[in-house]
Amino acid sequence: MTDTQFAGLHRALYHATDYLAGLDRRPVHASTDLDLLRARLGGDVPESGTDPARVIDDLVAATAGGHLGCAGGRFYAWVIGGGLESAVAADWLTAVWDQNAALYACGPAAAVVEEVAGAWLKDLLGLPATASFAFTTGCQLAHFTCLAAARHAVLGRTGWDVNADGLFGSPPVRVLVSDQRHASVDRAVRFLGFGDRSVVPVATDVAGRIDPTAFARALGDGTGPLIVVLDAADLNIGAFDPFGELIPVARAAGAWVHIDGAFGLMARASRTKRALTAGVELADSWATDGHKWLNVPFDCGLAFVRDRVAHRASMTVSASYIAAEKLARDQIDWNPEWSRRGRGFAVYAALRELGRYGLENLIDRSCVYARTLVDEIGRMVGAEVLWESRLNQGLVRFLDPSPGATDADHNARTDQVIEAVNRTGEAFFSGTTWRGRRAMRVSVVNWRTTEDDVHRAVAAVAAVLG
Ligand SMILES: Cc1ncc(COP(=O)(O)O)c(C=O)c1O
Repeated sequence: MTDTQFAGLHRALYHATDYLAGLDRRPVHASTDLDLLRARLGGDVPESGTDPARVIDDLVAATAGGHLGCAGGRFYAWVIGGGLESAVAADWLTAVWDQNAALYACGPAAAVVEEVAGAWLKDLLGLPATASFAFTTGCQLAHFTCLAAARHAVLGRTGWDVNADGLFGSPPVRVLVSDQRHASVDRAVRFLGFGDRSVVPVATDVAGRIDPTAFARALGDGTGPLIVVLDAADLNIGAFDPFGELIPVARAAGAWVHIDGAFGLMARASRTKRALTAGVELADSWATDGHKWLNVPFDCGLAFVRDRVAHRASMTVSASYIAAEKLARDQIDWNPEWSRRGRGFAVYAALRELGRYGLENLIDRSCVYARTLVDEIGRMVGAEVLWESRLNQGLVRFLDPSPGATDADHNARTDQVIEAVNRTGEAFFSGTTWRGRRAMRVSVVNWRTTEDDVHRAVAAVAAVLG
């Protein structure tokens, strides 16, 4: 190997380690603005080519300051996981190996690693060992995959073959959802051709859980094809619907029950948190993410389906060049994509790096840190806890001290404080509107977060309020 061989890859390794080593020192916010990024990256189409090492150096220089510090331990906005070292490295190798993970024939190791990682995940999450699965781009496409199987099954039970006849003239499908659901559920429903009007939101109680009486009312007499989507940790406060109560009723009414467990399904891996998810295993399908709490780099969603026949029927495809005889699992039978990245390598690496107890420890640690952040910030003068963290999410709001301040003033103050904290570069949070009020949402899902990071974030908020 000469000095110039693979120089682009060597530069990438240098920049990557430099970036990661500097996470603690650099501000968490982006320090560039839109115009600067466009000026640095833009220009005309290059007429001639550039040496790969130079391309990488230029890319790093042009994007410097344009990245949020999500990879680090002081980022608590949205629900954005980090990347475990082996998972990031496996992701690089995935690009180097450049397998088309559609078929076993196109990438034997990519197919088998996914078979193994899928089985491990079912074990860790306490899902049926016989369930089928798909590694998708994210929870959005995991919903789509699971709900495509649901569509096939619930219409099939009425004698309607959706693959052959589509949806024109089919019996209408109702989709019961929580009024706290993530919008990706609505979008999956829309992608599947049901339309927004098929969505029936069901009221939740003060703890964000679907109210069983409202649920029974929405189920009605249970006639007609029905899909129910429940939350295993809603996006704001991490509420788990009462699965043990709702799922048997829904299934008795002939419904397919799907779970949005984008991050909350991972609570199954913790002995202390698993009870929150009791009964979730009774569902028909489950969607979660590798790129959130499992700390696999983007993009990685995970879909699991109890009825593998319905799952396969809704996704499989045949072509003159796909072998009918199956030697091993072909991903194309379970996924919505054709050509695709070998997502299994990074998931496999993450699961090996953590092991069962490492994953449990990551879940438990994140929950402790979220609780500490919410409690300590909420205790400050001018702050108020809206939702104590029971998992990894909590809500705090900031109060306008002016006499006679209204809810609108407190909302404005909350957004101002979030922005001011983010400007310190010490921590990064995002806002949300919960039950009509603005709040700072605290979410801890990164393996890098330490006690020291939490103290720095608390100190940053104190400095802003002080
Ligand atoms: C509860 C919930 N469901 C679904 C999603 C969508 O996940 P993804 O962005 O991986 O598609 C999110 C994203 O934050 C989420 O929090």
